[in-house]
Amino acid sequence: MFTQAIARKPGKNFAQGLTSTVSAEPPQFELLCKQHNTYLETLKSCGLEITLLDPLPDYPDAYFVEDTAVVTPDVAIITNPGAKTRKGEEDFMAPVLAGFRKIERILVSGTVDGGDVLQVGNHFLIGLSERTNKAGAAQLGRILESVGHTWATVEVGAGLHFKSSVNYVGQNTLLVTADFAEHEALSEFNKIVLEKAEAYAANTLLVNEHLLMPTGFADTRKQLEVLGFDIIELETSEVRKMDGGLTCMSIRF
Ligand code: GLY
Repeated sequence: MFTQAIARKPGKNFAQGLTSTVSAEPPQFELLCKQHNTYLETLKSCGLEITLLDPLPDYPDAYFVEDTAVVTPDVAIITNPGAKTRKGEEDFMAPVLAGFRKIERILVSGTVDGGDVLQVGNHFLIGLSERTNKAGAAQLGRILESVGHTWATVEVGAGLHFKSSVNYVGQNTLLVTADFAEHEALSEFNKIVLEKAEAYAANTLLVNEHLLMPTGFADTRKQLEVLGFDIIELETSEVRKMDGGLTCMSIRF
């Protein structure tokens, strides 16, 4: 059971953050804040206590807190984010997590973004992406092993982060985009494979007995309903414009 979440308010300059998404309308700060607030209220309604941090003006992507740390029951591993403009965000997260866990760190030349790290029970899948390199994955794996976890790497050939395309939705089942449907590293799991038009719904977040999914993906919702969890749809239009989603905006533990 998760009991805690850490999040950070978006800053007014959030639209200067990294994105590959071309949107018809520019991102709207007030709408993002409204959606972010609803997200936090939803996490609270799922039983989580929220630690809400202030924006970091020098880091427009800093509200994507998940990339800065991987937290297990025993340890908080502070990452070394893979994007140049995001290096340094992790130094603001370390003292916050030190209040909850023993701290370990990913060291140069290893890079890891938390968005590439998916926990499934005692096992961690670590995506190798443009943000997470082999050295970083190996460091993270060694730390995870030292506290009793297993891990494996997965090549991320598509999408920004591994969790842009693959998430765990309970009952040994992964929600995956078509790119990951036949991925050998994921062969031991049942899979729900998303229609291309609903690929963004891969960024669905299991929080205790609740599945938080982005609004507007009716086919995916139907498939998820079979799993029997409470499904909560959340509007993510503004964060999507910045290549973000539901998993990125908090660290849960
Ligand atoms: N805008 C999210 C990221 O690229 O890290």
